Amino acid sequence: MSQSRIQLYYKNVTADVIGKEHGITAEQFSRLADETTPVIEKINKQRTAGKTPYRDLPYNTSNVQQVKELTSDLQENCENLVILGIGGSALGNIALQTALNPFMYNLHKTQRSGPRLFVFDNIDPDQLSSFIEWLDDKIENTIFNVISKSGKTAETAAQFLIFKKILSDRLGPDALQNHIVATTDSKQGTLRKIADQFNFPSLEVPDGVGGRFSILSPVGLFGASFCGIDIDLLLNGARDMDKKVSTEDFFKNPAAINAAVNYHYYNNGKNISVMFPYSCALKDLADWYRQLWAESLGKANDLNGNKVHLGPTPVKAIGTTDQHSQVQLYREGPNNKLFTFLQNKNFNNKLKIAPAPQCAPELNYLQGNDLADLFNVEKTATEFALIKDKRPCLTVLFDKLDPYTVGQFIYLYEVTTSIAGELFNIDTYSQPAVELGKKATFALMGKEEYKNLANEIKHLTELDNNFLV
Ligand code: PA5
Repeated sequence: MSQSRIQLYYKNVTADVIGKEHGITAEQFSRLADETTPVIEKINKQRTAGKTPYRDLPYNTSNVQQVKELTSDLQENCENLVILGIGGSALGNIALQTALNPFMYNLHKTQRSGPRLFVFDNIDPDQLSSFIEWLDDKIENTIFNVISKSGKTAETAAQFLIFKKILSDRLGPDALQNHIVATTDSKQGTLRKIADQFNFPSLEVPDGVGGRFSILSPVGLFGASFCGIDIDLLLNGARDMDKKVSTEDFFKNPAAINAAVNYHYYNNGKNISVMFPYSCALKDLADWYRQLWAESLGKANDLNGNKVHLGPTPVKAIGTTDQHSQVQLYREGPNNKLFTFLQNKNFNNKLKIAPAPQCAPELNYLQGNDLADLFNVEKTATEFALIKDKRPCLTVLFDKLDPYTVGQFIYLYEVTTSIAGELFNIDTYSQPAVELGKKATFALMGKEEYKNLANEIKHLTELDNNFLV
């Protein structure tokens, strides 16, 4: 079994490193430990009481078996897998693919051990038309995985209806069940109804698991398994992290420390949380984190019914790219951010930098170095520069990038979010503000039962020429 692991490094948020004004003192850490320890106990109890079913996904062997069976049934002759979904139904798939398959996976046959993967998590007609044109005859060798817990989400439903018609026109209605896999609620909802009527093979979004916590369910596992990612190792990593994040000893629990540090800074003028991966493969996990953090923690009311309007703002920055774009602000702008670097200690590939031409001796320092060393040096250099300006920095250190460490990372951040939600005393698992936008879309698209809402929005649909310049 792989021994690679991830670890959270938190020295660079301490007062010893960045001073008392911005750093966390030993006394403050001890108070955070006192406040957070009962929360760890509480979320462990919630889990045992079945209130947070996402916690048990890494142990769900029947999900894995179903996913593997379906993968092996459909893989033969499949050259393209198209995932239709949005938000929690798409970000996990994108993140796993970017993290665990090679950059040129889709374009280079020898670099892939499954079909090409396309995830459509938007409804831009120009983007989709270009894809449809490319797909052409290849549709015969294409599987569509439509993912929607409710089945009602307008974006996913629209994409699905478009591709269902194309499939039906090209291959005949009887072919639909060989080309569409539905991932949806086990019993109810629009997509479940359609899947049953058309006999689509289907997978379940487990009860009580919201989109943003569903990456380790069939929502994320099917696409990953189909594209050759070792889902056993991924879940194994999540299970191993589960042991760490369940421990009720604050200083041994990386999720507790991570949540407490974020909570402390939110309450002390740093309400922006920047995730800063120094690994291209990890960049979409930062997008997955943005949804997890924003939808879970951005809430109007606390659990006692008080209006609080709280929530740290998650921001994604890319190392080293954003050193040349954002770091000026990060160092000299307001000290209102907590930085979390993601660092890979061992890249899979070595790439030596070639000698510089004689006319450019100033580039000699690069010669013979590995590109990975430059990458990691730049992370340290940026962190040093931030620390100099007393900006707090955490690092998640990956021994290497593989399904096992990525599984650990996912589970670490899911449980961090649960602990942070309890510290903020809000409902981590609801998203009422997202729902209103969905309903307003139904209203504007003419759904009868939303007529009153449509009237309420009407003034926004007609532009006021006095304000057009
Ligand atoms: O996390 C969430 O709950 C959301 O992002 C949903 O996943 C997203 O809105 C899509 O919903 P559905 O799966 O019902 O289509």
